[in-house]
Amino acid sequence: MNTEIVDTLKREKRLDAAGYRSLLESRDPDTAAYLHETAKGVSVQRFGRGIYIRGLIEFTNICRNDCLYCGIRKSNRNIRRYMLADNEIIDRCSCGYGLGFRTFVLQGGELPDEKDDFIEEVCRLIHGRFPDCAITLSLGERREESYRRFFNAGATRYLLRHETHNPAHYAMLHPAGMSLENRLRCIARLKAIGYQTGTGIMAGSPYQTVDNIIEDIQYIQALRPQMIGIGPFIPHKDTPFGGLCYGTEYRNRTVGGPGPATREAEDMRLELTLKLISIFRLMFPDALIPATTALATVANDGREKGILSGANVVMPNLSPPWTRDSYSLYDDKASSGSESAEGLAELESRLARIGYHIDFSRGDYSENCI
Ligand code: 5AD
Repeated sequence: MNTEIVDTLKREKRLDAAGYRSLLESRDPDTAAYLHETAKGVSVQRFGRGIYIRGLIEFTNICRNDCLYCGIRKSNRNIRRYMLADNEIIDRCSCGYGLGFRTFVLQGGELPDEKDDFIEEVCRLIHGRFPDCAITLSLGERREESYRRFFNAGATRYLLRHETHNPAHYAMLHPAGMSLENRLRCIARLKAIGYQTGTGIMAGSPYQTVDNIIEDIQYIQALRPQMIGIGPFIPHKDTPFGGLCYGTEYRNRTVGGPGPATREAEDMRLELTLKLISIFRLMFPDALIPATTALATVANDGREKGILSGANVVMPNLSPPWTRDSYSLYDDKASSGSESAEGLAELESRLARIGYHIDFSRGDYSENCI
């Protein structure tokens, strides 16, 4: 078991590329267990056993973009497109507020620029009605001016995963016309405007290599985002990557495809996600790191596993129930039980079983929790 590398990462909050590689490629379950245990310890020391909750409102699945992995890509003609009206969004916030949520995450596809007025107005309305709540946006790449307007209207956090820091890999996951350069520019702008900014990747995305992941870690190391979202890639049947598991190079070999998705590939993505959560927790003791919905989708106890690897946030679904099937980023996306806002009691009891509880505070990024 290689405890030394984990101890070094905890102490130095960084490793060189070879160090990250050896952690990522290690097949030793004891080293992985020690990594998770150490990361969990750092998280508990920083945040106690409280887990922050965010009410996720998927207010539209309309998207001008065509990312190859994503179920709401514009080429998918197989879903009913919807967009909530401002009063419907406010209704969801009221419901969430009553349940104890103090952060609302407005997530949606990339709307046309003309919808900026609407988004700005919604931020203003929520901020006016619920001044003690934080508004997080997750709306993709938009103009700098738009980011500024939303910020001035009351949004203070923004999630925009970079997805991969390697330009060639980026091009394999995204349509022509999208560029890594623009994605990174957007993330830099969000940070400069003053948003608490989140970024991240999918673990085991098609064609991803360990080298790519090392580049991602190094980018995040330099960026120092406040939030880091990592979830396993899950194929969506109505996308070019649907049903197939494209080759992901892991442990020096290609796992899976091209070919049918395999259990092995799924386990690999779960394992990789947990390792990354732990690595980022050790690099950034203060960061807000969710146990994502995708993680809860690939394993029944995925959320718990994420928390026990150092995650400290969960984002229950607060969207109107009728939208949930249409907001299908990937197949079988979890949105009920403790993944849903209505299931908060179930979430609470599941957390209790692993010795944790819900922390109902806003949970802003801070460098001196506890
Ligand atoms: N599998 C897992 N995550 C996905 N996302 C989009 N499509 C998928 C998929 N097929 C993630 C992306 C995006 C976030 C909102 O959802 O990383 O940033």
